[in-house]
Amino acid sequence: MDVELRIQRFDPETDQAPHWQSFTVPVEPMDRVLDVLTRAKEQFDGSITFRRSCAHGVCGSDALMINGRNRLACKLRVEQLGRTITVAPLPGLPVVKDLVVDMEGFFGKYRSVMPFLVAAEPEGSGERLQSAEQREVYDDTTKCILCAACTTSCPSFWAEPEYVGPAAIVNAHRFIFDSRDEAAHERLEILADEDGVWRCRTTFNCVEACPRGINITKAILEVSAAVGAR
Ligand code: SF4
Ligand code: F3S
Ligand code: FES
Repeated sequence: MDVELRIQRFDPETDQAPHWQSFTVPVEPMDRVLDVLTRAKEQFDGSITFRRSCAHGVCGSDALMINGRNRLACKLRVEQLGRTITVAPLPGLPVVKDLVVDMEGFFGKYRSVMPFLVAAEPEGSGERLQSAEQREVYDDTTKCILCAACTTSCPSFWAEPEYVGPAAIVNAHRFIFDSRDEAAHERLEILADEDGVWRCRTTFNCVEACPRGINITKAILEVSAAVGAR
């Protein structure tokens, strides 16, 4: 069968504003949106620009707004979408070209919450041990692949782009609640900022968008409670 693939195009060297372009693309039902984009690029227009790497939901590089929702192109099958597939870049981030957005601001917020283990004592000869129960506390937030689908679906982020956003909070949570880490207090101070956790309005768009099924709102509420109790 064929689908109509509508792509938001923008070339900063020639275009004043984004515009839509449609292609009729032959597909199989089990094809994923990433396959359709790749076919359109190979068969119709080699200048169509998008990011991808693993093609298996691991690297997080092909999060796009597909039929109005942020999702990974490599995890969404054509049969889930119908005959018209509309693909636009993630909202709220500057467009570099076509479907590619500038992720630097997003990663800057990620880096701002110290997303690494801080422990004063040297490792010694063994591993830093923790119990299964201690590991379970932050298991969900270890699953993040930094795709940005959550932050760019958040109305609080659209309204206030300085908001640190759900992805950064998820990655702060991963270390704040790690029993081996010693920098929770510093992270909580960072997230107590006016652009930190308090900007969340529990809208849940982030939870719906997350391709890893992370309960982001639960993580944000746990971090908020820790900020309040610090
Ligand atoms: Fe992507 Fe989910 Fe991580 Fe947000 S929390 S960046 S949606 S994997
Ligand atoms: Fe935004 Fe998610 Fe909170 S969509 S408002 S970060 S619950
Ligand atoms: Fe890696 Fe889709 S290409 S997650």
